Amino acid sequence: MKLSTPSISAKVLGLGTYLPERVLTNAELQARPELDTSDEWIVRRTGIRERRLAADDQATSDLSTLAAEACLADTGVSPDAIDLIIVATVTPDMLFPATACLVQRNLAARRAAGYDLLLGCTGFVSALATAAQFITSGSFEHVLVIGADTLSRITDWTDRSTCVLFGDGAGAVLLGPGEPGEGLLSFVMSNNGEASGLLSMPAGGSRLRITPEVAAAHLDCIRMEGKELFRLAVEGIPTAAEDAMRAAGLGPDDIDMMIMHQANIRIIEAAAERFGFPPEKVAVTIDRHGNTSAASMPLALDELRAQGRLSAGDRVLLVGFGAGFALAAAVVRW
Ligand code: ACO
Repeated sequence: MKLSTPSISAKVLGLGTYLPERVLTNAELQARPELDTSDEWIVRRTGIRERRLAADDQATSDLSTLAAEACLADTGVSPDAIDLIIVATVTPDMLFPATACLVQRNLAARRAAGYDLLLGCTGFVSALATAAQFITSGSFEHVLVIGADTLSRITDWTDRSTCVLFGDGAGAVLLGPGEPGEGLLSFVMSNNGEASGLLSMPAGGSRLRITPEVAAAHLDCIRMEGKELFRLAVEGIPTAAEDAMRAAGLGPDDIDMMIMHQANIRIIEAAAERFGFPPEKVAVTIDRHGNTSAASMPLALDELRAQGRLSAGDRVLLVGFGAGFALAAAVVRW
């Protein structure tokens, strides 16, 4: 969908991120004999070398608050000027109150409404598209979009097929009104609920209470059928990306940077190859962050900016995919 409001666009005013200090390396995972894994397998099959883990006393609202504070410092906008906070996450501190309420309190963003958006790794792009509606309609002036996850808390640390993949982190962007042609130029979103069983946390919602038996079976943790998800991702990403570029009136040659959800280096490389993007046009953070779910794309944006690879006016293609099976792509003029 093209954002077609003629007079106002939803522009990215600033960006901030937070990564926990604790680094968990592949060597540490390899050193646990019960996992029967190796640095060589993890690097070859996923591209991951290390990931960050939240401290024991850190929850998603804490990571989110630190990212949001960095974002506000980046923009110079005061917390009082925030109208809405959307936290994209699948690891809220608890099911309610919404993490957005905790962040609102922590920031003393007194005027801000807010809610969480639970769409896994696709959440950041979908939250961006949601936030843009409020800006382009003139309803709100400042919307804080946070992608944050503490996946280490819902990881089954006895399951080598998933525990080597995930990490913790948070990123925030502030959206505000811009000139036509700035900010979010287009987005597409889709869900394939038929594939919803491929990636889930079965217990802890209204379907299945967490009893000792359920916890012993690790049903309160991430369950993933990686191979089938891999196939859905590699098949679906090109179409979503093409649709978003077409809606923005652009082709692959017009894109300055592609930022995909960081789930597997092989998925990223397949998409880059499909569009003929050279490595310098493709964001890769998975080697150091692992899969941080909703945080992976804002973390990549921040890293690119710090490296001087993201400049004002650049056209950035964002592609998120994950639990659902959900896909979302967007083109942003930075
Ligand atoms: N160490 C060593 N061996 C392992 C490990 C490990 N950590 N994990 C699995 N293996 C073994 C398997 O047991 C299997 O052995 P077998 O052949 O004897 O049965 C073999 O390695 C191959 O396993 P596969 O699952 O087929 O490995 P694959 O190449 O598919 O890689 C992976 C697995 C990395 C999970 C991949 O499928 C993937 O990245 N999938 C996509 C994940 C994704 O995109 N998720 C959506 C986003 S994430 C989100 O929304 C939170």
